[in-house]
Amino acid sequence: MDKSQPDADIAAQVAKLAAEAKEKAAASGMTPPDLATPDARQAFLAQQLQMLNLAKNQGVEMPKTMWAFWDTQPVPKMKETISDEDLGAIEASRDNVRQEPYSLPKNFEWDDVNIRDPAQLKELYQLLNENYVEDDDNMFRFDYSPDFLNWALSPPGWHTDWLCAVRASTTKKMVGFISAIPATIRTKTMATEMVEINFLCVHKKLRSKRLAPTLIREITRRVNKRNIFQACYTAGVVIPKPVSTARYHHRSLNPKKLVEIQFSALGRNQTMNRLIRLMKLPGQTSLPGLRKMEKKDCEKARALLGGYLQKFDMTPIYSEEEFDHWFMPREGVISSYVVENSDGEITDFGSFYSLPSTVVNNKNHSTLNAAYCFYNVSDRLKDLMQDMLVIAHNQKFDVFNALDLMENEQFLKPLKFGEGDGNLNYYLYNWRCPELEKKKLGLVLL
Ligand SMILES: CC(C)(COP(=O)(O)OP(=O)(O)OC[C@H]1O[C@@H](n2cnc3c(N)ncnc32)[C@H](O)[C@@H]1OP(=O)(O)O)[C@@H](O)C(=O)NCCC(=O)NCCS
Repeated sequence: MDKSQPDADIAAQVAKLAAEAKEKAAASGMTPPDLATPDARQAFLAQQLQMLNLAKNQGVEMPKTMWAFWDTQPVPKMKETISDEDLGAIEASRDNVRQEPYSLPKNFEWDDVNIRDPAQLKELYQLLNENYVEDDDNMFRFDYSPDFLNWALSPPGWHTDWLCAVRASTTKKMVGFISAIPATIRTKTMATEMVEINFLCVHKKLRSKRLAPTLIREITRRVNKRNIFQACYTAGVVIPKPVSTARYHHRSLNPKKLVEIQFSALGRNQTMNRLIRLMKLPGQTSLPGLRKMEKKDCEKARALLGGYLQKFDMTPIYSEEEFDHWFMPREGVISSYVVENSDGEITDFGSFYSLPSTVVNNKNHSTLNAAYCFYNVSDRLKDLMQDMLVIAHNQKFDVFNALDLMENEQFLKPLKFGEGDGNLNYYLYNWRCPELEKKKLGLVLL
């Protein structure tokens, strides 16, 4: 690990804490705390910690106000308000990008992942399958399939050095990972070449050792080396500063299994039979002309989606090649459908991806099969989405998940989606963008 960095993080944190305490004291007419000597600073920090513990014991959620790492990065400050005129880079692009990789703790080393090599793909799959995102109660853990990872990590313009792994030097076991893929993202009026950062993961046994900031610094350096200085990413955690926040909603397709694995619960006065009846879907789709998307549809579907996304303030812009990559159906990975009318026009477009979760510790079920709403375009969105639910149900998915962004509010309640817990925050790195309402978000990351 870069030894100087954690110290710099902590120094920045103490300086910020002190400045804030002085500011508060001055504003309230109180005597500012004495922070001149190390002892005084220690006493002050102890007092702050005691207050935090007191609040925690009384069940008060204290919002975090300091981030040892993120406060050192070119991201907006939490308190900052950003207007349309501010849209743009926080710090200028540099041509003197650091040449040497950041240092890792002793006995660990960097490696690039060649996702096309089945052995390396399997190693990445295993790291994520055992250590990636879990829900708050640790009952479910994402189980991105190898085919999915191959798709998600190698769009046009991908680089092996942007699939950045940490290995234990002696055993060569993969214990950490972070990825960047190229993307053109429009925020409000500006289209920018960025990367999407995803799959940040540190092995469970190596948590809380500040490896994550090193992975983030290293991927930033590698991306900067290719002259890209902006990124977008999503996370459940709150760090400075979300540009927007969305929430997942869930539509039961197999209510019995969802109750059995405690993904959902029977409500008061609810019986299993009533729930099953409530969630029952037609056996067949209803929109005439709805069919799987084929290669010959891509150009028209791309134009339809591109036109539709102009409604939103944060969206991807796809080249032909990129659209084909992201939307051509791949068994067990991505499903895309179009409606072709009698004039041969593509009038509707719908897509979802397959992301199962491991059910941790359940005797009868090991996998939750989830379909995730991707991009959809339709003048009759509720009808199109009902057809997507029918298709997902017929393909034996247990649940259909959708975020409440874009125009999804139109169908979430009518189609009996239930609101999930936990937020998904959207972030931009080195890019100031005014806060966006979720209905202005037109970006779905995998
Ligand atoms: C996310 C993960 C890599 C963080 O590693 P860790 O060992 O818990 O934390 P570390 O001690 O290395 O680093 C902590 C720093 O990383 C930041 N961090 C944690 N999770 C983060 C995330 N998802 N995105 C960005 N930064 C994150 C923390 O805010 C903290 O920085 P701060 O001091 O400025 O607040 C690890 O918990 C993990 O693999 N979790 C499961 C997978 C996962 O949730 N991945 C993120 C998906 S968005």
